[in-house]
Amino acid sequence: MITITEARKEILKSHPRIDAIYKVTGIAKYVADWNVKDVLYGAVIKSKIPHGKVKSIDVNEAKKIEGVKDIVTCFDDNTIWNAGEKFHRRRVFTDHVRYLGDIIGAVAAETKFSAKIAAETVKVEYEEYPAIFKIEDAMKPDAPKIWEDGNVKGPLVISYGDIEKDFAEADLIFKGNFKTSRVANAQLEPAASLAWWEGNRLTVVAATQSIFGCREGLAKDLGIPIENVRVITYYKGGGFGNKASDMNYDLIAAILAKRTGRPVLIEFSREDEFSLVHGRWGTDQTLEAAVKKDGTILSFRIKAYADVGAYTRAIGKFVEGPESYYSTRSWYSEIYAVYTNTPPTGHMRAPPGPQSCFATESLIDEIAYKLGVNPLDLRLKNAVTKVHNSSNLTSNGLRECLLRGAKEFNWYNRWKKPEKPKKGEIVRGVGMAMAAWHARVGYGEAKIRLKPDGRVELFVGVVDIGTGAKTTMAMIVSRYLGVPIENIDIIWGDTENTPYSIGESGSRTTSFTGNAVKEASLELREKILNLASQFTGIEKKHLEIVNGKVVSLDSSIEIDIGDLLTKTKTDYLETFVRINQELDKNMERLSFAAHFCEVEIDTETGEINVIDYLAVHDSGEIVNYLTAENQVKGGIVMGIGMALNEKLIFSDYDGSLLNGNFMTYRLPTIDKIPNIRVIFVETEDPYGPKSLGEVSIVPVPACIGNAIFNATTIRLTELPFSRETLLAKLDESVFTKV
Ligand code: MOS
Repeated sequence: MITITEARKEILKSHPRIDAIYKVTGIAKYVADWNVKDVLYGAVIKSKIPHGKVKSIDVNEAKKIEGVKDIVTCFDDNTIWNAGEKFHRRRVFTDHVRYLGDIIGAVAAETKFSAKIAAETVKVEYEEYPAIFKIEDAMKPDAPKIWEDGNVKGPLVISYGDIEKDFAEADLIFKGNFKTSRVANAQLEPAASLAWWEGNRLTVVAATQSIFGCREGLAKDLGIPIENVRVITYYKGGGFGNKASDMNYDLIAAILAKRTGRPVLIEFSREDEFSLVHGRWGTDQTLEAAVKKDGTILSFRIKAYADVGAYTRAIGKFVEGPESYYSTRSWYSEIYAVYTNTPPTGHMRAPPGPQSCFATESLIDEIAYKLGVNPLDLRLKNAVTKVHNSSNLTSNGLRECLLRGAKEFNWYNRWKKPEKPKKGEIVRGVGMAMAAWHARVGYGEAKIRLKPDGRVELFVGVVDIGTGAKTTMAMIVSRYLGVPIENIDIIWGDTENTPYSIGESGSRTTSFTGNAVKEASLELREKILNLASQFTGIEKKHLEIVNGKVVSLDSSIEIDIGDLLTKTKTDYLETFVRINQELDKNMERLSFAAHFCEVEIDTETGEINVIDYLAVHDSGEIVNYLTAENQVKGGIVMGIGMALNEKLIFSDYDGSLLNGNFMTYRLPTIDKIPNIRVIFVETEDPYGPKSLGEVSIVPVPACIGNAIFNATTIRLTELPFSRETLLAKLDESVFTKV
């Protein structure tokens, strides 16, 4: 006989997204699907030069275009978009344009067409400044200044331990330079925002990852009380990090709506989505590792430059991560952000994660090769036990990920010492990489209500940008309250009707909001059992809720929880919970991954194909295996893109984005995706499920690069890996010497 707890686990470990049917049938309403009366359409006025000062704007001709209701420019509006730039004040409408496309004004018109034409018709006079498009040029002492305080910010330093001592004590020092390109978040739904005012109350239907983050930003930037702002997001077509606050187009919709007294909808074209909304920054990283002959890695020293474009929304470090998955005695990284007259950058899935992992894990692979040891053994030897050599982990499944992966991938049999291929050969090789990412805990809220019809309403402030958050939350209720998931209704995505949630960023939803949902479920369960105990006279400890029914352990009674309310004349039972979890001092919480892959390379054409992929993850307890596996697969597909194809290409002439659409920006296609196996090592963590969404992309480019090395002895040091470089390197260092 299985216990009740086991029975629940059986049922509730895997479930399809509860809103999948609405998405695939087109019923789900995204921002641009809203149909509001008297709506005006907004369009942005974009700079036609990459760098300069706006001297004047003539809107007279544009105003005459039929249907044009309003034109606002940098001379009429001073609003600061606080989330738009990390180190400086960025205006919503700027008079100092810093890249081609920088927004200097906006139009509201009766039709999308009129708005667009008017935005193009506005005459702008500029004082042109010299422009720079490459970080090397931006760092020259006489470079034109993109910001008053210069083009270079930093250094930001992450350090611990005695770096000089460890490098002095090293038997061997390894060094490498690695570069990563700028890439796009490339979510399917382009930027969109719909805003209207009722008196001094603003409502924004936003395509945001966080309705509360968006609301807070709008209130701050517009200088209005937060209670006067309502943000609604019922459906969001992906985000991956670039829409986790209020966005400039939200502010522009609100500003135009205020000025016209009508609702305003702004929707970006795919090209605008690519070039006006930020993507992942590029990096140039020089690493050194201090190593003992026995393979102990004593220390890492990194100097890195981040290619951040004209603006960066990043709030984190530009190179970060490996210092948390290696147990070195010391670490020193010195990071600079460098501005250029190119489109903006910001967060994308584990913002600095894959770039940093690529550099470190490639160098580690190199060290293993030179020391003549298996790269897996080198990692097992140096895998983190104490973070920064001082903090304990709440749980640590890294070794288990490595060992389990080795077994399932048959690593020790498949891995052979790298060998030089013969010209024209099709060769295979295997690679691996490990990674960690933050698994934070924090503030969350949830409200749950049981009604006499037996339905349970969960009020939760998530958006569900594609992560399956609504389903996850429903499953947590189902599991801890003991009701079938079909009986749960989720009320989400509206700051007016739901309690606070961090939203979907930083892989935090399941911990922050999910733990509140769990507590709320347990509290409501107590309330139901108390009522049932009073009603039946059976002691509470002999009662349990199973499948939406209160049952006594001796099976003598069975009451539907809805009927219990009816029979006791209770209108409803409700509970509201706030949690604010904090880690103890000197504790760290991380999720871990070990990835393994095999590549096949045509040495004639340079074509690289990933033909097998295994991902082993420690994200603690998994709530929904189905969506968790999907998350990991999505991260790997994104990582394959970063490794093999994806690169935002900017013009050397004016810094404009040359491949800002799905035809020319090369996302990986399905024929390039191998069979991906995902295994979860479910460590027990005192704070419950750990993070998952971001860590899945972190080791991918490094894993593939290491497999390429294993197949060819060629170390590719720049992302994306290009066929040309591979062929050139093969010609130069392999074939000539055969
Ligand atoms: Mo994110 S890159 O924290 O949405």
